[in-house]
Amino acid sequence: MSYAIAIDGPSGAGKSTIAKRVAKELSFIYVDTGAMYRAMALYVLEQNIDPQDQAKVAAACPDIDVTILYEDGVQQVLLNGKNVSAEIRQEIVGNTASKISVIKEVREKLVALQRQLAAKENVVMDGRDIGTQVLPDATVKIYLTASAKERAKRRYLELQEKGMPGELDQIEADIIERDNRDMNREISPLRQAEDAVLVDTSFMGIEEVTAAVIAEFEKKK
Ligand code: C5P
Repeated sequence: MSYAIAIDGPSGAGKSTIAKRVAKELSFIYVDTGAMYRAMALYVLEQNIDPQDQAKVAAACPDIDVTILYEDGVQQVLLNGKNVSAEIRQEIVGNTASKISVIKEVREKLVALQRQLAAKENVVMDGRDIGTQVLPDATVKIYLTASAKERAKRRYLELQEKGMPGELDQIEADIIERDNRDMNREISPLRQAEDAVLVDTSFMGIEEVTAAVIAEFEKKK
């Protein structure tokens, strides 16, 4: 039997940073499911499909192949054979991902891929619906959150570091809009699973959060 650590929460709560660290310490595979929604969003953008046009996006799903590979333990995302791991980090791609992630066909395709990965390996998987939908029997479920202001500040600094500066107020507005969409959609809305442990990272450091997640895993494994 393989282990699964499910980490859900809103944008910018630090899920990927923490999930990567936890995966490294436990020698598990880190699965970034947001990257898969982003890859599909990139396709929609490239094809000039209106992300709000659900029928068009659903019809395009069979033409989209998302493949996950690991290079030196780092997840790479291929969109129809092309490595798009860097391109999908753009803000516009994240916002478009949030728009298309409400569509049933998009979710079905990606949830199947996510379950396949978790069936083979010990995983730390992060997203919005991992504990509630994708891996309801995960060994441990964490709901990671932080205030919208703190999350905007972190995203701002992260973008600056990557040489993609943004405006703090705009980033906060986008985060709030994305939270609303993710939490209020009909299919698999973002919410804390009943058996998930809530970790508010607003006033916690990376090491502290990592240790807290590993401690929860050790308790439940
Ligand atoms: O986490 P990230 O910002 O990369 O995710 C981009 C978008 O993909 C999210 O805003 C959310 O709408 C969607 N998503 C999702 N379910 C997941 C992961 C991401 O709906 N498991």
